[in-house]
Amino acid sequence: MKPNQHYQNVKDSYLFYHIAQKTKAYLEAHPDQKLYRMGIGDVSLPLAPCVIAALHEGVEDQATKANFHGYMPECGAAFLRKAIAKHYQKRGVMLNDDEVFVSSGASDELGDLLGIFDTNQTVMILEPAYPAYVDANLMRGNTIIHRNAGLDNGFLPMPDRSQKADIIYICSPNNPTGAVYSAAQLKEWVDYANDIGAVIFFDAAYEAFIEDPDLPHSIFEIEGARTCAIEICSLSKTAGFTGTRCGYTILPKTLEREGMNLHAMWVRNRTTTTNGISYILQKGAAAVFSDEGQRQVAELIAVYKNNAKVLMAALDQLGIRYFGGVNAPYIWLQCPNGMDSWSIFDLLLNEIQVVGTPGEGFGPCGEGYFRFSTFGDPEDTKVAAQRILDLLSK
Ligand code: MLT
Repeated sequence: MKPNQHYQNVKDSYLFYHIAQKTKAYLEAHPDQKLYRMGIGDVSLPLAPCVIAALHEGVEDQATKANFHGYMPECGAAFLRKAIAKHYQKRGVMLNDDEVFVSSGASDELGDLLGIFDTNQTVMILEPAYPAYVDANLMRGNTIIHRNAGLDNGFLPMPDRSQKADIIYICSPNNPTGAVYSAAQLKEWVDYANDIGAVIFFDAAYEAFIEDPDLPHSIFEIEGARTCAIEICSLSKTAGFTGTRCGYTILPKTLEREGMNLHAMWVRNRTTTTNGISYILQKGAAAVFSDEGQRQVAELIAVYKNNAKVLMAALDQLGIRYFGGVNAPYIWLQCPNGMDSWSIFDLLLNEIQVVGTPGEGFGPCGEGYFRFSTFGDPEDTKVAAQRILDLLSK
């Protein structure tokens, strides 16, 4: 037996696991302290009432012979695929129901989808980036081209036609910077991908946070995307499903490379490697896409947007420069006083019990930055903002 040698190329521990270990150690040493968690983007509000009602209904169905469900279709329940396709239709994106694949969440899909690509692929990652993009590709032995986002390009790098890649990861609204591509900018990426034969993995996990009506929520709003893109989305942040687990992937039937149809391959993959998502969860997920569900999840998002305002007001008072927080649930700030990002992590944890995420964890070009998630408890966020103000204005 020979273990996967590529695991030697990833760091010993994953960013958010490492932070969880550090905070656990802090709490063990200081059992009386309470932490103010604004690190990992984990939601703090309960699921919307209509989701809870639908989950209960799902449980009741499983209790009766007439309504009981056994194995679910591997690619998703017809009722949920239809509900999601209809949701896209409202934005002018026409999809066949079977171009929607129900998943257990975006992070799982972002790695699993690599299964329909050859090994030794060249993968372009726009950094700073969600660290799972890099790790999932290193584990498969893919070669990574790191494209840096920074102040010079407004955290929105554009294609460089001298570079070639097989797969391109784009996250918009971006985790961690909060930057959002315009339709014109995405069109450039789509044209580039079609020209060089690359496939874009479009991570749309934060689309529900877009406020500006001119910004695209889906890459399929862009002409040409049906021949070069796969969209990965999640209900984690849209509807508070981080602990419930359900997402979806849009893979158009028109996506082909070297005579092979990627949609057919993904159906082949799913029908072989999963028995689908539980009926009960899919019932709950479908409720998100009802009119009432959309109204209720908008209320949850409004609470997180208010958290962002509270944190941004504190940073404004301190004169700290930051990005995001408006069309995205993350605030990306420049580390104050020339500190590096892990030093500010330690300072905030040790002095005021506030947990954030060091920019360096999203790639070397994230050094000098720090990320706050706005998904925390609203009261805790207020306390944290005051503590940050008190500490950093000294
Ligand atoms: C983050 O904090 O970057 C994300 O919430 C992590 C995740 O979705 O796995």
